[in-house]
Amino acid sequence: MSFFKRTIRSVPIDNKTVLIRADYNVPQSKTGAISDDLRIRASLPTIEYLLEHHCKVVIMSHLGRPEGREEKYSLKPVAKRLSDLLDRKVIFVDDCIGDKVVQAVKKAPTNSVILLENLRYYTEEEANDTAFAENIAKSTGARYFVQDGFGVVHRAHASTEAITHFIPSVSGLLLEREYVTITGAMEKPQRPLIAVMGGAKISDKITVIERFVGIADKIIIGGAMSNTFLKYKGHHMGNSKVEDGQEKVLDSIYLAAHKKLDTSIDDFIILPDDVAVASQISEAATRKNVKLGNLDEKDIALDIGDASIDRMVEEIATAKTVIWNGTLGYAELPEFAHGSARLALSLAAQAETTSIIGGGDTADFVLKWDGKGGESFTHVSTGGGASLELMAGKKLPGIESLLDAPR
Ligand code: ADP
Ligand code: 3PG
Ligand code: MG
Repeated sequence: MSFFKRTIRSVPIDNKTVLIRADYNVPQSKTGAISDDLRIRASLPTIEYLLEHHCKVVIMSHLGRPEGREEKYSLKPVAKRLSDLLDRKVIFVDDCIGDKVVQAVKKAPTNSVILLENLRYYTEEEANDTAFAENIAKSTGARYFVQDGFGVVHRAHASTEAITHFIPSVSGLLLEREYVTITGAMEKPQRPLIAVMGGAKISDKITVIERFVGIADKIIIGGAMSNTFLKYKGHHMGNSKVEDGQEKVLDSIYLAAHKKLDTSIDDFIILPDDVAVASQISEAATRKNVKLGNLDEKDIALDIGDASIDRMVEEIATAKTVIWNGTLGYAELPEFAHGSARLALSLAAQAETTSIIGGGDTADFVLKWDGKGGESFTHVSTGGGASLELMAGKKLPGIESLLDAPR
């Protein structure tokens, strides 16, 4: 599948000053250390391409949701990590507009990399403010704008939308890869396609589930999401996390599934037959397998059960494409990460199966699980909300605003 937007490969970018929007909104520990640098590593191919083409590279991003200029949201530690990964100097400017930026860009020689301070220190960023975007464009003097912050393209902000009114705007290599991989697997998958959905809530993911009912060969449901499905089917779920008010949504999901199927619906939307429970959510809690129908009042279902894990692994073995969104249990606690870990292991072992992993918590989980920075899978998306919206088939403002690919 090809990309419908122009990319850095299709414009005469050599020797230009180029402004990249990256998504360096990386998780940090309490002490400010970067706890996962996937988003920084994923930005390297575009930066390296531009350096090979003798560009002056200026990068902007947000970090967190600061209220004003809060030091703990500074991008300075990201500049350090980026410099280590690129193995070259990264000039950090502690503002994203104004004279400091003008001077830094002017002084920097060709093939420099400059990182600007957090865009969200200005409320104008999230307000998609035109004057602010124009100020960024003028301060950096960029000849091209490159959107490569896939994780933030579902937002219409000054650095994702308004900026494109001032500078010719094209896609970076990460955005292109994310779009082509995810959309390709949704629209033209190698079959069988199995969707695995889990996580906290149905309501966060309705449109994605509905889309999978239309396109997937099977859907495996786990996580707290499966508690809600199971309760809807009449099972007693004890003290488990269940989302109220989802009956109508589930009625329409099952109706749509019925219409498409000639086989049993329970072989299409696959729910757990057993769950792993505890009476409290804590490090001390141990895993107890319980068959559906046998849950006590105090039982909290925190993972899919061992028999359900075995069934899932058998199903996954038949898939040529697997798209996974949402952990299958309370994976922050190792006792309740068995379902997610076995799924990760199956995908890592099935090299011939295309495996696409989306969702902030799910990506965090597989990256921690994987010793190879996510390389055990075909694609670990750098987008949380953005990957969900793309899977749902929505148009994303940060992509729509770019120049169309030449026909
Ligand atoms: P993603 O960010 O990958 O889209 P979600 O945010 O939807 O995923 O879901 C991840 C969250 O769901 C995690 O915090 C996890 O603890 C929670 N979760 C998963 N299964 C359960 C469960 N059985 N009970 C309570 N919480 C759960
Ligand atoms: C993300 O981490 O999902 C993106 O960086 C967007 O951040 P936001 O949800 O604060 O807009
Ligand atoms: Mg999440």
